[in-house]
Amino acid sequence: MKIAIGSDHGGIHLKNHIKAYLEGKGYEVIDHGTYTEDSCDYPDFAKKVCDDITSGTSGAEKGILVCGTGIGISMAANKCKGIRAAVVADVFSAKMAAEHNNANVICMGERTTGIGIAEMMVDIFLATPFAGGRHQRRIDKIMALEK
Ligand code: RB5
Repeated sequence: MKIAIGSDHGGIHLKNHIKAYLEGKGYEVIDHGTYTEDSCDYPDFAKKVCDDITSGTSGAEKGILVCGTGIGISMAANKCKGIRAAVVADVFSAKMAAEHNNANVICMGERTTGIGIAEMMVDIFLATPFAGGRHQRRIDKIMALEK
């Protein structure tokens, strides 16, 4: 599975850690930056990752975004058509984001989340299938809000 990943300066260390963690597990990771600690704007990186997913350019179906808190970058991601981004800070929420909400992106905060929890959240998000059924009806209603 290919995973698109991105962050602003506030999330670069956790983003780089998750990239190495996933590559160590055999995933192909498309890193959309940021690549330096210079101050930058998280919407730019949310857009790069989300455009990659929705365009099918790289074949990445899921994405991981990191900023200081995960909040700003999730707000930006959820403005991108076709994206369902969930801010997650615990393992149960990361599982539910996939199982109930069919999230294609999870967002987290480098300043709020330790690497151990981050690794577990990434693992369960990528391993959990969407449950469908009644949840599909709700996802359809979310996506209808884009129109
Ligand atoms: C950058 O300082 C910080 O505001 C950003 O990373 C993020 O936490 C915003 O939601």
